[in-house]
Amino acid sequence: MIYYDPYDYEIDHDPHPTWRRMRDEAPVYRNDKLDFYALSRFEDVVAASLDDRRFSSAYGTVLELMQDEPNRFPMMIFKDRPQHTQLRKLVSHAFSPRRIRALESMIRDLARGYLDEQVGNRGFDYLEDFGAKLPVMVISTMLGVPEADREELRRWTDSLLHRDEGETGGERHLDIMGKLNGYYADYVTARRKSPRDDMMTDLIEAEIELEDGSKRRLDDEELFAFISLLSGAGNETVARLLGWTATTLAANPAERAKLVADPSRIPNAVEELLRYEAPSPVQARRLTAEVTLHGETLPEGSRVLLLTGSAGRDGREYEDPDRFDVDRVIDRHVSLGFGVHFCLGASLARMEGRVALEETLTRFPEWDVVWDETERVHTSTVRGYAKVPIQLP
Ligand code: HEM
Repeated sequence: MIYYDPYDYEIDHDPHPTWRRMRDEAPVYRNDKLDFYALSRFEDVVAASLDDRRFSSAYGTVLELMQDEPNRFPMMIFKDRPQHTQLRKLVSHAFSPRRIRALESMIRDLARGYLDEQVGNRGFDYLEDFGAKLPVMVISTMLGVPEADREELRRWTDSLLHRDEGETGGERHLDIMGKLNGYYADYVTARRKSPRDDMMTDLIEAEIELEDGSKRRLDDEELFAFISLLSGAGNETVARLLGWTATTLAANPAERAKLVADPSRIPNAVEELLRYEAPSPVQARRLTAEVTLHGETLPEGSRVLLLTGSAGRDGREYEDPDRFDVDRVIDRHVSLGFGVHFCLGASLARMEGRVALEETLTRFPEWDVVWDETERVHTSTVRGYAKVPIQLP
């Protein structure tokens, strides 16, 4: 009997053997206890992501936060078309190639600052001292948040995503959400009074085009929702990617040496890292109509998990999928999502992954991980390390 449960620490530690069995023996997996189906094959995850009318995001995409009614919270990740398109079009501007390109030197300076501090040391925590800090600073800087507040915002966001084993949300989360919203409420008010050349001002001034052709601006609730989406979606995921970078390269020193010898391979290595250990391996959907797949009929209203993390290891799509290979030719992967909800921050995430690795390898071409002292993060949506102590030669 295969058992899969995204809240189970032991399975989460190394879900790959379970996901392989699911792909081979139960491509439409059913968990009665937690009331969900799970799709684990690459092709099925792609097809479901493209079939966004039946595989709805509107009831929530985080299993423990899913509801029976469409979500009222105005976050694009929890919307279906056409509202999703309106919100996405509006913020795409803030993620325009111009805005993202302009961030590279800021990201590099931040990375250099954190890593230079470690030069000459015997070791450091790759996540706590570097990988977890970088993305928060990047997003806060993009939004224009004052430097003095950034660390506290990061801690709130961090604990918002953490789940103790068996915990399924509740009071603690509402409390932190309240704090975050309060902070941003004051911040938006201040920014409305004095606009600047930053993303916050872009968002305040941007206009949504409605179906009848009329336009309107985002209200406060929509603005806060977008800001929490950015910090929720853009911090933890990148931190997890950097954690997997440190651990996977330490476990594959020959692949790491190839990147040191030829840094032009780094962008491809980032894609391979995303495929190999997806930082966000589970996306939930709810069916708005019955779906038949592999001979099984899933009723309307079913909760379905799209296992993007499993799709990346599917031998039907990738040759020798459990081998980590920085030179692998990757046509496509689903670790940044697929279809209408494809990660809005994808080019930013890729840039952060690339710059972090370039700056790391220039200073530290080799390291070992102190495996006994590593710690994981546990949520149903994000998978990876919270602490990665490394030793330098
Ligand atoms: C390695 C880092 C990242 C990973 C693995 C990742 C992964 C994903 C995935 C899998 C989705 C699709 C969710 C779904 O289909 O329900 C998504 C959507 C999204 N991501 Fe990312 N993400 C990363 C970084 C970022 C960053 C840096 C930002 C922003 C600063 C960001 C913002 C978003 C937003 C706003 C969405 C929702 C898009 C929509 O609904 O249209 N992500 N991401």
